[in-house]
Amino acid sequence: MAESFDPSALTADKAARYAEVAEMIAAVLDGEPDRVARMATVAAMVAAAFDTFFWTGFYVVDPAKGNELVVGPYQGTLGCLRIAFGRGVCGAAAATGEIQIVDDVNAFPGHIACDSRSVSEIVVPVRDAEGRLIAVLDVDSTEPAAFDETDAAGLKRILEATFG
Ligand code: SME
Repeated sequence: MAESFDPSALTADKAARYAEVAEMIAAVLDGEPDRVARMATVAAMVAAAFDTFFWTGFYVVDPAKGNELVVGPYQGTLGCLRIAFGRGVCGAAAATGEIQIVDDVNAFPGHIACDSRSVSEIVVPVRDAEGRLIAVLDVDSTEPAAFDETDAAGLKRILEATFG
């Protein structure tokens, strides 16, 4: 177990902050193989590092169905339980395998409003070491257009290092 996590000690620059958090997540998870523990730790540490993140968590591919996501570890208000591939922003990320950045969820066709306070979001596909889609990471903000390419790169790097 690494030293305790103090988000207030993180740098203000967003890209640098992602790099610091990535390093801390790797230190905390060193030697821990359990995927639920890894997802829970990523959700907790990423949410703590960015106070603009209103909902931060995983929707996991349900192995029994293959084309449906079921909620996994998260930080935030109550999330929807299941999302079909192709539905909403999470479903679009799962179906296409592409990162989704949505500035205004109300303008996104089929958006699933788990909490009407969410206004913008980023969803990043999560792959295992064999390249199989295992989940998506969904981060929502109450501010419009809260996410950009820096978030995409920072989150992708954390997910590849943690689950790839
Ligand atoms: N906003 C997501 C649904 C999940 S929740 O917001 C936690 C979507 O449309 O995929």
